[in-house]
Amino acid sequence: MNWKDLYKNKLATAVEAVTHIKSGDRVVFGHACGEPKDTVDAMVKNYEQYKNVEIVHMVAMGKGEYTKPEMAPHFRHNAIFVGGCTRNAIAEGRGDYTPVFFHEVPKLFKKGLLPIDVAMVQVSKPDEHGYCSLGVSVDYTKSAIETAKFVIAEVNDQMPRTYGDTFVHVSELDIIVETSNPITELSPPKIGDVERAIGENCASLIEDGSTLQLGIGAIPDAVLLFLKDKKDLGIHSEMFSDGVLELFESGVINNSKKAIHKGKMIVTFLMGTKRLYDFVDNNPVVEMHPVDYVNDPVVVMKNSKMVSINSCIQVDFMGQVASESIGTVQFSGVGGQVDFVRGASMAEDGKSIIAMPATAAKGKVSRIAPFIDQGSAVTTSRNDVHYIVTEFGIAELKGKTLQQRARNLINIAHPDFRDQLIEDFEKRFKSKF
Ligand code: COA
Repeated sequence: MNWKDLYKNKLATAVEAVTHIKSGDRVVFGHACGEPKDTVDAMVKNYEQYKNVEIVHMVAMGKGEYTKPEMAPHFRHNAIFVGGCTRNAIAEGRGDYTPVFFHEVPKLFKKGLLPIDVAMVQVSKPDEHGYCSLGVSVDYTKSAIETAKFVIAEVNDQMPRTYGDTFVHVSELDIIVETSNPITELSPPKIGDVERAIGENCASLIEDGSTLQLGIGAIPDAVLLFLKDKKDLGIHSEMFSDGVLELFESGVINNSKKAIHKGKMIVTFLMGTKRLYDFVDNNPVVEMHPVDYVNDPVVVMKNSKMVSINSCIQVDFMGQVASESIGTVQFSGVGGQVDFVRGASMAEDGKSIIAMPATAAKGKVSRIAPFIDQGSAVTTSRNDVHYIVTEFGIAELKGKTLQQRARNLINIAHPDFRDQLIEDFEKRFKSKF
């Protein structure tokens, strides 16, 4: 049968498609802005038909209605990253979190550690050979399709057609629901004075010819503001957002000095506005690959002058970095932080930067603390940490003793907290600051 006939035979409505989900199934959603909309809505509407369906998902950009208290007997959320719309469910016990490096998520599916019954994904329209692109989210979504027993795919005519290892053939999809939905957008963050100062400090560590990994949010975007005078930068990142476009258009990012994938921006998922999605559509300068390739530290390390920039919640005097929980509250997840911290530190002339405002909770708490809060998870270990950056400066920790680390960190803490931190230092190390 040719692919066009196959395609027609697989067409269904969203309501019909979700009847293939059975009680007790484990369902994986396409990631982040790739989360399908119509079929997830139809699944939630059909909730009375299901008991104990496990929803596995990472960055949640949808409505998260399956996590509402009244859905508890029908759906249970297993988060690989905790987001705004799923945080309460986990804090209140209606869901749980699975710690895993982002680059190892496909391995959980492939090795049967987290076998999938149903993958619900979103793809672009097929090309003339019957291949659909995974568009803005390739990450673990491709391996979810490859390993699930059943694949429900929304073919969205607004999904950009991205290049790289992003293609799935119509024959790999079990049910097709045609949709026309705008891709979920992430508005550009507000960049204040604190973020600008952090951005400027980070930018001072970035040399011409570096390859960058940037996380999500105001700090990465603030770093980009201070790179306008740099030359020959490249991108090898878990994700990027609109902030990168200006530097690409002005020629600062040209990927010309990259040691691998010269001339290309390498990424595993995208979150931004329609401007970004239009830019990546049919644009071979952006190559998207599965996360077990892009985030694999052994791949990341092949880039020379690799610089990773991520954020955190707390750093203790030893340089242990808590990035995903506030005490016992699981706030987010490890994501790709450690993948890139390790990849950058193994790369020739690589640097890993953890950048954060010196305080949290509207200035009431110092993020630099003698100890990690009880119950918090250490995300980046003291053995992996390299640079910590705040609006007050840069602390280099690699190769430094415990006391040197603590001194360097206290020097970039908010001045309001420095006296207390010095007292804590002297008590702890039995040594003058
Ligand atoms: N004590 C108490 N509260 C704290 C705190 C601390 N030490 N640190 C942060 N908070 C609070 C903040 O005040 C804020 O609450 P508010 O909005 O009510 O003020 C909230 O926690 C979120 O903190 P903030 O720093 O604003 O979060 P963010 O959106 O900038 O995200 C991380 C920061 C660290 C959570 C995020 O970068 C992350 O999840 N990192 C791990 C994953 C990663 O690095 N992935 C790789 C790249 S995508």
